[in-house]
Amino acid sequence: MSELISLQYSINHLIAKIIFKVKNRKFNLNKNQYAKKFNQVGFACFTDKNIENECKSILQKLNSEDEPWDSENRFNRSASKAFKKELINIFNSGVNEFIQSAFDSDYYIFYHTLYKSNRLSKAKIPEGSQLWHADGGPGNCMNLMICHSHINEFNGSMKIFPWEISKKLLGNLSYGYKRLIRSDLNKIKNFDHSRMAYRELKCNLLAKYIKKNAYKFFQPKSKTSGTIFAFRNNCVHAGGFTEVGNERIVSIFHIYPSKKQTSIEEKFESLHLKNKALPAPKELP
Ligand SMILES: [Fe+2]
Repeated sequence: MSELISLQYSINHLIAKIIFKVKNRKFNLNKNQYAKKFNQVGFACFTDKNIENECKSILQKLNSEDEPWDSENRFNRSASKAFKKELINIFNSGVNEFIQSAFDSDYYIFYHTLYKSNRLSKAKIPEGSQLWHADGGPGNCMNLMICHSHINEFNGSMKIFPWEISKKLLGNLSYGYKRLIRSDLNKIKNFDHSRMAYRELKCNLLAKYIKKNAYKFFQPKSKTSGTIFAFRNNCVHAGGFTEVGNERIVSIFHIYPSKKQTSIEEKFESLHLKNKALPAPKELP
């Protein structure tokens, strides 16, 4: 992302903070412990009995449908519309306050995808977002995951490195990748120069640095539904690779600071369908 565009996202956030401060003088921005952790480390997990119950209700509704998934295991229509009541309750049970505290501002939901991770064959190997990567989006985009299933190492609970380690990994990656592209690319057998091939190169380099430094990742685990797992999109992460016979169902939201103040109900008036990866800075409300 260019420095100019990155600056535009930051300016948008700064204005959003000022507006929020003026309009919500009584809101205690330092109160939320999970938001503090998110801002310090780059991710945070929490849950609550209401969130657990609403996630169980979403799972029940999914189970009652004949085929709610598309060919890529994503919910086949707007999950924000289908589960609006449950999601509003989840946001009312600490998620809304967490996001506002983490951003010091109100927020805008850019998209929401609900999907299922499973693995039907042992021969399948990790690919795409299941490999170590950083999303490379704007620094102030929050990825917020609502885990409708329980999560553990067997059903593909996402793994992540704190921002301090991610920074080192991404620094190494930037240097190593440039060197590889400039001089060593012809040594790689059958390199096809596709976007996926370049992405795989980066993922493999990251995996190499992680192994070399023996960095320890964080992987949330829960026995029941309802874990909220928020993370910065530029923390190095990998997720969703399940052991055969296990399954994980989660929602992922991409959330941005917003200058416009809206209620939770107003935020869920939109379908939150994913039409593109990023909003242009000037599109942000
Ligand atoms: Fe990702």
